[in-house]
Amino acid sequence: KYLQEEELTEECKELISSLPTEKGWIGPPLYQFQGFWHSSKILSTILTCQKNFQAQDSDIFLTTTPKSGTTWLKAIVFALVNRRKYPDPINHPLVTNNPHALVRYLELEPRIDYQAYDTSTTIASPRLIATHLPFVSLPESVKNSACKLVYLCRNPKDNFVSFWQFANAVIPKEMGTNSLEETLDKFCRGGNIYGPFWDHVLGYWKESLENPQKLLFLKYEEMKEHPEIHLRRIAEFIGCPLSLEEESKGVVDDILKLCSFDTLSNLEVNKSGKLSSGHDTSVFFRRGEVGDWKNHLTPEMIRKLDQITEEKWRGSGLSF
Ligand code: A3P
Repeated sequence: KYLQEEELTEECKELISSLPTEKGWIGPPLYQFQGFWHSSKILSTILTCQKNFQAQDSDIFLTTTPKSGTTWLKAIVFALVNRRKYPDPINHPLVTNNPHALVRYLELEPRIDYQAYDTSTTIASPRLIATHLPFVSLPESVKNSACKLVYLCRNPKDNFVSFWQFANAVIPKEMGTNSLEETLDKFCRGGNIYGPFWDHVLGYWKESLENPQKLLFLKYEEMKEHPEIHLRRIAEFIGCPLSLEEESKGVVDDILKLCSFDTLSNLEVNKSGKLSSGHDTSVFFRRGEVGDWKNHLTPEMIRKLDQITEEKWRGSGLSF
């Protein structure tokens, strides 16, 4: 269902031939476009989206760097937006569907879904749409319409460790595994899919400062510490605040419980399911904790990551 290399448009093939390229971690080579690294297939859909995608004022975009808690954010916002439609946690779509099957990525979908996005025939309003695109590469209509963006990021060390573990979980067997050292080197140079990580976060951070009505900037660590505060913030931001009645009924706790790592990772659909992309659903649930980097990184690796973080984000007000 996904685009094959030979299906790339002439425009995309021509563009690719002029772009800097890097070996990918888990398969196809990456190309640097608008400052960020993408596979040719994703690049092709980015070009299509930039040309054709029409945002609607009611759209809600869930934007993240890979491995910063996208699965969790998708579950929470899906449950929030649909809480009146699905009040029963036992028969909730999240019990029988992986969050990635309920909230799709703008740039990773088979082309048929762009038709759906364009005409709104199959996705109810408000449309929940996920993306890993950096801010600079979002379609103009996303930037210029009144749609809302919720951005979730994570501290660079946990993000890196999660990324490395994920890459090794999904890499085709014949490619072996990526060593921690080699992967860190690439991550630090920015040459990973949707990287450089630091530029991705900084782009959204700056936009959130300039345009707080449009973009809500969240950190995984803060969500883990006070999920109820951030759930209410998200609800207000996307225009569906919790009523007093809902508060007194414990809706916040119900949603958080349904979307918790423990609940989701123990569901059959997330233990042994498969996504249309071919990924096992279980690869999106590993530990779901803050600070796992301490179990993997050497002091030298920690210094390296901290130094880049300090250099890249100096003066921005952004820290972890
Ligand atoms: P770890 O690899 O550190 O465990 P993404 O969803 O962007 O791919 O990010 C995956 C990370 O989010 C993984 O981190 C995964 O375990 C964690 N995660 C998945 N579901 C979660 C949930 N419901 N609550 C908290 N973290 C979750």
